[in-house]
Amino acid sequence: MPERSHVNRVYLDHNATTPVHPAVVDAMARVLKEDFGNPSSVHHFGQRAKAAVDQARSAVAALIGADPGEVVFTSGGTESDNFAIRGVAEALDPARRGHLIATAIEHEAVLNTLKALARRGWSTALLPIGASGVASPDALRDVLRNDTAIVSIMHANNEIGTVQPIAEMARVAHERGALFHTDAVQTAGKIRLNVKALDLDLVSISAHKFYGPKGVGALWLRRGLRLLPILTGGKHERNRRAGTENVAGIVGMGVAATMALAKIDDEAQRMSALRDRLEEGVLRAVPGTTVNGARSPRVPNTTNISFDRIEAESLLIALDLEGVAVSTGSACSSGTLEPSHVLKAMGFPAHRTQNSIRFSLGAANTEAEIDRVVAILPGIVEKLRNLTRTPARV
Ligand SMILES: Cc1ncc(COP(=O)(O)O)c(C=O)c1O
Repeated sequence: MPERSHVNRVYLDHNATTPVHPAVVDAMARVLKEDFGNPSSVHHFGQRAKAAVDQARSAVAALIGADPGEVVFTSGGTESDNFAIRGVAEALDPARRGHLIATAIEHEAVLNTLKALARRGWSTALLPIGASGVASPDALRDVLRNDTAIVSIMHANNEIGTVQPIAEMARVAHERGALFHTDAVQTAGKIRLNVKALDLDLVSISAHKFYGPKGVGALWLRRGLRLLPILTGGKHERNRRAGTENVAGIVGMGVAATMALAKIDDEAQRMSALRDRLEEGVLRAVPGTTVNGARSPRVPNTTNISFDRIEAESLLIALDLEGVAVSTGSACSSGTLEPSHVLKAMGFPAHRTQNSIRFSLGAANTEAEIDRVVAILPGIVEKLRNLTRTPARV
């Protein structure tokens, strides 16, 4: 049951985070109460905790078509992205493989990691992205070099939802001997993802985007791939990530992964029908609205809509006052009037990078909620537009 304070509120910000599923909460509470042992301990208590972590590892591996031994638990998507890129960069000889590539619309966890490595001597390149929000294999061919160490291209973009052709991108990267990493934080648990079939090398995922807890994620790395750990210490996670495991968080992630996988196709279908209902409703009911980026292929729960002559932050606040939670882009940059780096990279003019709202749907949303949002938006938008209309000269 939702908490009282949430009744009548419509949460449409699932790309920022999702509510933790009650079954996940139960499993985590049981671990905190009963399986408090340290998984590295040899005694009964330690072995119980280790068994719980191993079970979760198998569940997470199943979600992405991987072998459990290839999954390393981390503190979330940000650490997984850092680990993938820094780990590969540091494991290779920078004189021979000192070049790193990502798209211009990656999450800050990737973009700022590239910037940090650039300050330390690596050379970096950002793939340009057109108005579709989808990167092209030809653009990748143009920037790849014989010394490219790793190409990092997200599976789906967190702001506009576009899905990148990662299998093709991985093939292009491999032709030049580069490794391929994908940030699948916005697709894991939402659409099918098979790391083997796609022939990827490294994949980042995060539990709190699929009804698991915050502060836990995983990096999948292809068997045999050498990474330098970014956290040094004990021999945890087969020497790949030091630190006593977050057992309750990991167990929660495992339960969330199993539940997401069990209904992944049905839920994707339901989500895209609901998203399309919202999108078509808004485009029909509110004049001066446009969808940002290609409408297909897209992650099924996301739409990003531009509202002419509207300041996105004002619309976000007005919607919040009506009990509807949305976002102006990535959560990390909300609260500031920074234009979206994603919409900017797609070549949109300044006003369009500041008048766009992301609606990201989730498991508990209903048709009635979507219809309520579509019903209240025209009035709110008209009011805001009237407020900013230049007064007539007298
Ligand atoms: C695409 C993408 N990558 C990485 C992250 C960071 O994940 P975490 O919040 O688990 O650190 C996010 C979170 O918003 C994301 O959307």
